[in-house]
Amino acid sequence: MTPKRRVGEVVSRLRDRRGLSRSSPRPSGTSPHRGFKDPSFQRSLALFRAFLREQDDPEACYSLLARDAADQVEVYDGPVAGRTVVDVGGGSGYFTEEFRRRGAHAYLFEPDLGELGAKPPDGAVVADGYLLPLRDAVADVTFSSNVLEHVADPQTFLSELARVTRPGGLVYVSFTNWLSPWGGHEWAPWHYFGAERARARYRRRTGRAAKHTLGENLFAVHIGTTLRQVRARDDVEIVSARSRYWPFLAEGVVKAPGLREFATWNLLLILRRCPP
Ligand SMILES: C[S@@+](CC[C@H](N)C(=O)[O-])C[C@H]1O[C@@H](n2cnc3c(N)ncnc32)[C@H](O)[C@@H]1O
Repeated sequence: MTPKRRVGEVVSRLRDRRGLSRSSPRPSGTSPHRGFKDPSFQRSLALFRAFLREQDDPEACYSLLARDAADQVEVYDGPVAGRTVVDVGGGSGYFTEEFRRRGAHAYLFEPDLGELGAKPPDGAVVADGYLLPLRDAVADVTFSSNVLEHVADPQTFLSELARVTRPGGLVYVSFTNWLSPWGGHEWAPWHYFGAERARARYRRRTGRAAKHTLGENLFAVHIGTTLRQVRARDDVEIVSARSRYWPFLAEGVVKAPGLREFATWNLLLILRRCPP
């Protein structure tokens, strides 16, 4: 199938399914799929252990992360079964597959063929998050995990997520902020001493060029600035701003200016699409 035809097919399937969308209830406690309590030490430890084994066992790591993120969506928005979920920048599709396992009509939009890999989910669309080939308000949930720090203009990226989300729908956005201990990605924590120095060190130590270059495919996104910009928007309201992985004080840590830039690790924003 040509990419163009595939895009057309996905868009028309999304349009058809729009009629099936229901308005979502407010958070109703726990999802039937929930593994660990969130936040809890048990959950954070399981995620941390999976991250440590990411290189050796990416399948286990990303499957767990996908289950965990889908649980979070369901806590804030109720079961995803029967709903349209749009996963933007979803890489090889672990999250899309997890939403489908739970009965959602989930679609993957990913601009990088290399990230899509050899076996992307059926119907995956090669598309940029700045310009999704979708009509307005087609999704019940838009989902973006660890993408915001990889785009040069996060607010325009958010505008596009909001545009394709129906009024009352949920927008899930998480990102690793620059001053997080993990902000430099594969060259962390040496980014605290400067991105160029950290990249050079990575190359020296591993013999490989680093995947990320600051200002090209990784950008210094800050929590305080992002919160101010999102609060000033009229297309979404913040339901929750919290640390995605912390075992306690997940919302509290984000309320401490300065400290939050170092201690949050990864900011999770749960947003609700406002009526136009
Ligand atoms: C760190 S990966 C995250 C993958 C997956 N969402 C996850 O959480 O494991 C960042 C992803 O963002 C994607 N990305 C970068 N720029 C993008 C853009 N403008 N629109 C959509 N996705 C983008 C990359 O191709 C990559 O798949």
